[in-house]
Amino acid sequence: MLSTVHVISHPLVQHKLTMIRDAETGPKDFRELLEEISTLMGYEVTRDMPLEEVEVETPMGKTRGKMIAGKKVGIVPILRAGLGMVNGVLRLIPTAKVGHIGVYRDPDTLKPVEYYCKLPVDSDERQIILLDPMLATGGSASAAITFLKQRGVPSVKLMCLVAAPEGIEVVQRDHPDVDIYTAAIDEKLNAQGYIIPGLGDAGDRLFGTK
Ligand code: PRP
Ligand code: URA
Repeated sequence: MLSTVHVISHPLVQHKLTMIRDAETGPKDFRELLEEISTLMGYEVTRDMPLEEVEVETPMGKTRGKMIAGKKVGIVPILRAGLGMVNGVLRLIPTAKVGHIGVYRDPDTLKPVEYYCKLPVDSDERQIILLDPMLATGGSASAAITFLKQRGVPSVKLMCLVAAPEGIEVVQRDHPDVDIYTAAIDEKLNAQGYIIPGLGDAGDRLFGTK
């Protein structure tokens, strides 16, 4: 059975997504919007976190409440553009540990090339949220998930901003256990592997490198 694709249709996410798509949005606003959207999407990504009942003593007496149980969370951005989503998710889960995977797309073959991987030592016990704003051919995300699994990570959720149908298909084919969270499923890829209409090159827009 294939994994679930969750499209986050919350009006605040959709509003900010339209702003971030705008070619006139510069790096400062792009960064702020990406961080804000990541917080809002993080709310949905963590919706199924298990809870346990605990006892708590209020100033008025004892009662029972609920607290998050189960696996601890790890956040792993795919460099570079995933970096722009880290602080937004950390705002929700400030104790999460953060790993990094460096993958770039070879511009000629469009195949992913790994150049860096540093994960929390106890990643094999964590629920990993993998961050990358763009799911285009799916090569980078699929390769990153494979690296995580090779290092013993038991459970991965992929959080992106804009996904192409082609990328969703590749991740679902390669990793049917990984749920995908996205703010939009766009129309298609162009011949250079860019998402249409997308938002352009996320890394360049985030860091002002073009
Ligand atoms: C972009 C983006 C994704 C990847 C998506 O990164 O941030 O990681 O492309 O494309 P794919 O689904 O076809 O693999 P890029 O390779 O441009 O590297 P950068 O973030 O360092 O600019
Ligand atoms: N990477 C990007 O940054 N943008 C795209 O549209 C495709 C891949």
